[in-house]
Amino acid sequence: MRIEIAEHAGFCFGVERAIKLASDARNSYDKVATWGKLIHNEHVVNELRVAGIATVDSVSELTKDTVLVLRAHGVDRQVFAELEGTVRSVIDATCPLVKKVHAQTEHLSRQGLPVVVVGDASHPEVRGIVSYAGAEYFVVSDKEQIDRLPYRDKYGIVAQTTINEAVFAGVVEAIRGKCASIEVADTICSATRLRQDAALKLAKTVDVMLIVGGKNSANTVHLAEVCRSVCKRVFHIESADECDGALLAESLCGTTSIGITAGASTPDYVIDCVR
Ligand code: F3S
Repeated sequence: MRIEIAEHAGFCFGVERAIKLASDARNSYDKVATWGKLIHNEHVVNELRVAGIATVDSVSELTKDTVLVLRAHGVDRQVFAELEGTVRSVIDATCPLVKKVHAQTEHLSRQGLPVVVVGDASHPEVRGIVSYAGAEYFVVSDKEQIDRLPYRDKYGIVAQTTINEAVFAGVVEAIRGKCASIEVADTICSATRLRQDAALKLAKTVDVMLIVGGKNSANTVHLAEVCRSVCKRVFHIESADECDGALLAESLCGTTSIGITAGASTPDYVIDCVR
């Protein structure tokens, strides 16, 4: 049986950077915590917990001697003010590419434009992005939601970094019918593009695709969507344990080729176990 791993799979540089910043902090300070889950992968979050790095979700959980590491997906801009004086220090592990979306959203808003963020409104990254928008902004996850946008002279558009490229392109086209002009900041990150393109290429050549990563990981969910457009049997699993599940085990029976890819927050050892 052919088992092949997609060319680009697993940790992106933003995730590696965040883990390194948290680990380095733990090596230097007694009390280290992350604001929200550092990345969307339970294996890694558990490893950090075992290493003594807690996850906190509110200011009331913090003490003055805590060194706080901000998650890779970024935080609402108000959080920086809220944290003032509550902790020993703050280490911002927000991915630089997410920071870029914040800056571009702010730039579009400062021009007086209503900003459309293409992404999942409930995702922490998108909640952080909209905190950099002005009074008028909209979050849409696909082109079907464009109907609710009012007509405006001009819209600014940004993307959640991990959104599906085809979905983003569809929304941009649909918004053209709602205004005279648009200014687009294509903020899909390079790691997302590479993973989606490599997954699509591999999915076209195999019977079954296994997508490994957190069920709450947006980029992993989008990898599965991309693969479903060309492969009939696509399974999103969090670890090798799920390979024993009835549906997946039946699908693997008699299969001659399996492709594997993984989200940007999935550690190599989890991918290796699945293989
Ligand atoms: Fe950054 Fe893209 Fe990874 S935004 S955290 S490099 S998926």
